[in-house]
Amino acid sequence: MYRSPNPLVEKSRLKLVESLNARLADGLDRWTQIKVAHWNVKGPHFAALHPLFETFAVALAAFNDQVAERAVTLGGLAQGTARHVAQASRLAEYPQQTTRDLEHVRLLAERFEAYVAALRETRALAEKEGDTDTVDLMTQVVTEFEKNAWFLRASLE
Ligand SMILES: [Fe+2]
Repeated sequence: MYRSPNPLVEKSRLKLVESLNARLADGLDRWTQIKVAHWNVKGPHFAALHPLFETFAVALAAFNDQVAERAVTLGGLAQGTARHVAQASRLAEYPQQTTRDLEHVRLLAERFEAYVAALRETRALAEKEGDTDTVDLMTQVVTEFEKNAWFLRASLE
């Protein structure tokens, strides 16, 4: 572990860095999956979904950067190469042959809900370790991706 401006003890920072890196791996994997959906979506809802998926990708890219930088601020390293992510992500692989608009919506909704559940695990750890700033960051991402999951679920109902 490296020096950090954060006052938490090293043991706590190490646990948080590990959890943040797990969320970074999931988040980078999810970003590629959203882009695959953005590129391959076809059907009557194309005009709405193609740009909607891009807004998800843009939001997630910004959050991935913040999660990585939080890990480094806490004295760790951010692990994010494609090969590392392929081994570390807990996300189910995206069926890349999918084209049907509402099938992409369903696949992304499932993945956003799993992502939010994992973010809550990291938030609970941050609460336990007394890291309010990581709690706040996780809350921002949870709020955004719960809303995005709702956009998708609303399209299916
Ligand atoms: Fe595009």
